Amino acid sequence: MTQIISRQVRLAARPEGRPGPEHFRIEEHPLPAPQPGQAVLQTLYMSLDPYMRGRMSAAKSYAKPVEIGAVMEGGTVSRVLESHHPDFAAGDIVLSHTGWQTHAVADAAGFRKLDPKVAPVSTALGVLGMPGFTAYSGLLTLGQPKPGETVVVAAATGPVGSAVGQIAKIKGARAVGIAGGPEKCAFLREELKFDAAVDHRAPDFAEQLKAACPDGVDVYFENVGGAVWEAVFPLLNPFARVPVCGLIAQYNSSAPPPGPDRLPGMMREVLTRSLTIRGFIQSEFTAQRPAFLREMAQWIAEGKVRYREDVVEGLDKAPEAFVGLLEGRNFGKLLVKLAD
Ligand SMILES: NC(=O)c1ccc[n+]([C@@H]2O[C@H](COP(=O)([O-])OP(=O)(O)OC[C@H]3O[C@@H](n4cnc5c(N)ncnc54)[C@H](OP(=O)(O)O)[C@@H]3O)[C@@H](O)[C@H]2O)c1
Repeated sequence: MTQIISRQVRLAARPEGRPGPEHFRIEEHPLPAPQPGQAVLQTLYMSLDPYMRGRMSAAKSYAKPVEIGAVMEGGTVSRVLESHHPDFAAGDIVLSHTGWQTHAVADAAGFRKLDPKVAPVSTALGVLGMPGFTAYSGLLTLGQPKPGETVVVAAATGPVGSAVGQIAKIKGARAVGIAGGPEKCAFLREELKFDAAVDHRAPDFAEQLKAACPDGVDVYFENVGGAVWEAVFPLLNPFARVPVCGLIAQYNSSAPPPGPDRLPGMMREVLTRSLTIRGFIQSEFTAQRPAFLREMAQWIAEGKVRYREDVVEGLDKAPEAFVGLLEGRNFGKLLVKLAD
């Protein structure tokens, strides 16, 4: 095989606050020769996810940061160009984790073969991938929605939030979505059939949310934190469950929010209302993955779960698209398409 050059986005510097183009650099490097057990891949789709902001920082977290100068990490859907692993052949489409680059050589042991006849292969990065699994495992294991209960979720048009609301409805609960702007709210009500949708940018957001939850909130699936959390917290019913999945409103913060310390008052409410607030990382529920793939594929086939993708074309667009994701400029699962 002729020498393949991989075009890559590498981490140039660690951002303080909002990332910008200066924190990334694009380079081209020849691929190394594949070893036994490895495969040569061409990236078709790259996933852009909020967790990548954490990987740009050296702060202690559940996963190691991307080193300065290293290729940005992330999930990918790739075509196998050359295989040195018995389970994969040239032409296979696989779920891989090769990051922000056009081509890679990687250990094939972690690949999952994708069948384009079952679902568009891009869904392996969204509704049928890590974000969909996060919604499924976090909501069902920790949120435990019951028929008639109210489930609230923010970032509700994204891959995690949209699945949370639709699974809540499958379980007989009322789904209330929070999203940025009237277009996203209309999509939640009209396309995803949420019972209500509230725009967190509206000046009377807290009042609108209260009106949308006349019986209070039994499950709040926390994706956002910040002002949204402050509006939801007073509405939580006794014994409400709060799976803490993400805090995207805080990911670009470099200082604590201004104002008085609200933690003592909040802890008093946790006690007197018997609230359960539980953080999680989806990888702790890996054993549920086969059940997720089976159930989610069926819900999609039955039209009970719908999804929306926001596809950007070309590797060079990735940094700008990623910065936009942290500010709500994406509308649906954000993907970068690199090849057909
Ligand atoms: N714990 C885990 O294992 C795990 C796994 C995957 C994802 N997550 C978390 O799940 C959350 C959603 O992820 P996703 O992939 O589905 O992302 P996403 O919804 O596609 O994108 C993030 C969305 O967050 C919203 N947002 C950003 N800043 C906000 C703010 N200040 N206030 C309110 N909303 C804001 C924006 O939507 P609007 O325009 O609607 O505001 C933006 O589109 C993230 O917090 C992510 O870190 C956690």
